[in-house]
Amino acid sequence: MAKNLFATKSVDKLINESESGEHTLKRTLGAGNLTMLGIGAIIGAGIFVLTGTAAANAAGPAIVFSFIIAGLGCLFAGLCYAEFASMIPVAGSAYTYGYATLGEFIAWIIGWDLILEYLFSAATVAVGWSGNFVSLIKSLGIHIPEAIASAPLAYDGSSITTTGAIVNLPAVILILALTALLIIGIHESAKLNNVIVVVKIAIVLLVIAFGFQYVNAANWEPFIPKMEILPNGTTRFGWSGIVQGAAIVFFSYIGFDAVSTAAQEAKNPQKDMPIGMLASLGICTILYILMSLVLTGLTSYENLNVPDPVLVALTAAGPALKWLYFFTGIGAIAGLASVVLVMLMGQPRIFYAMSRDGLLPALFGKVHPRFNTPYVATIITGVIAAVIAGIFPIGLLGELVSIGTLLAFVIVCAGIIMLRRTSPHLNRPFKTPFVPLVPILGILICGYMMVNLGFDTWMRLIVWMAIGIAIYFLYGRKHSKLQKQTENADTTVSAR
Ligand code: ALA
Repeated sequence: MAKNLFATKSVDKLINESESGEHTLKRTLGAGNLTMLGIGAIIGAGIFVLTGTAAANAAGPAIVFSFIIAGLGCLFAGLCYAEFASMIPVAGSAYTYGYATLGEFIAWIIGWDLILEYLFSAATVAVGWSGNFVSLIKSLGIHIPEAIASAPLAYDGSSITTTGAIVNLPAVILILALTALLIIGIHESAKLNNVIVVVKIAIVLLVIAFGFQYVNAANWEPFIPKMEILPNGTTRFGWSGIVQGAAIVFFSYIGFDAVSTAAQEAKNPQKDMPIGMLASLGICTILYILMSLVLTGLTSYENLNVPDPVLVALTAAGPALKWLYFFTGIGAIAGLASVVLVMLMGQPRIFYAMSRDGLLPALFGKVHPRFNTPYVATIITGVIAAVIAGIFPIGLLGELVSIGTLLAFVIVCAGIIMLRRTSPHLNRPFKTPFVPLVPILGILICGYMMVNLGFDTWMRLIVWMAIGIAIYFLYGRKHSKLQKQTENADTTVSAR
């Protein structure tokens, strides 16, 4: 019985199943669109908000090193994702890779964990988007009452209280509008994403190019401020602050792996998936390093612990950069909207794969006869994300998204080492270099960032996983197609 829990699905079977069925997803995306989807998911709340918090509360100007460490962890994990995505080019991302390597139970755990990354980050970033949107239109003279533009619940670090607000309506409307677009088509969604990505990259480049001219190098002194102990017993700055900073800014890299959820809609997934993931990651890493240098160079890191650090840094340069304020607002709004879009795109494709395997009800796997999109899973994702975004404050979910994603990265890295051993002869159009070194480094860096996330975050992860395991034993295990086939002694399935 325990053996069945770890029954794996062969790569051939996964690929064959993905092509069968009455309606399947439509292959329309090329390398360019996939790279843009990656950038769409990556640049968002992380760079526009968290850079400031991490510099002020953890690393100082050395936040640039935090970005490099987090970026390296993502690069190593990204190289492992790229091998899997080229080898198993079907929907489902890490969930599907888990099914091929570590067995059904672990695959379910990864799938459940990925809900933290996709659905929860869509909700979290939509709340951030709402805040930016409300202040931008306020600067244009349009005022949205707080009662319908903020969360009715607040989180003060230990308990949840009510705020008197009714609902965060802008966040809800954004999610529902993007959900509607995603139902109509992945190609249409990718087109909108392309436009948004061009706008946000252009604005990030403007801030970097013009900001650099006003950098005051004295703000980088000391580059790594001395470590200090805070009244609550925690520390900041010094080398340990750099690692803490890496765990915080890791959030800004989340999303390159979302490219792999669209594998079944890529025209040439074997070649284009690795390009999409690694190119988007590389471009964003360079932008982040430059952006963090500019922000900490324009003003003292101590001033950056605010919800709009880019604006605060530009203001410090005096009136010369005033013309950039409005564009920065637009950049943040555009950036955050595309993150929500791509995350809302990724989640239903993971549900779709889980449903195809019988671990979720068949409803989640329904493909629209005309639009060729997993429309029921898209609606379910959109409605749940809208409810969460409408009610919860942003602070409660951010770290949970990071820890969930890091866990998936660690498992994917471990999966590469295992699959090289168990199935060395599989066709691998893209091969992770230096195995096992690269996956081991990925596990170590991502694992270390996980350790640096708070105790509360760990507790929430454990509770979330416990709920997931209960659902698996109550539903998934009984309905799993693989379990049924294994019981019928299907010879194409290898049970370890
Ligand atoms: N990387 C995404 C962001 O920073 C999740 O908003």
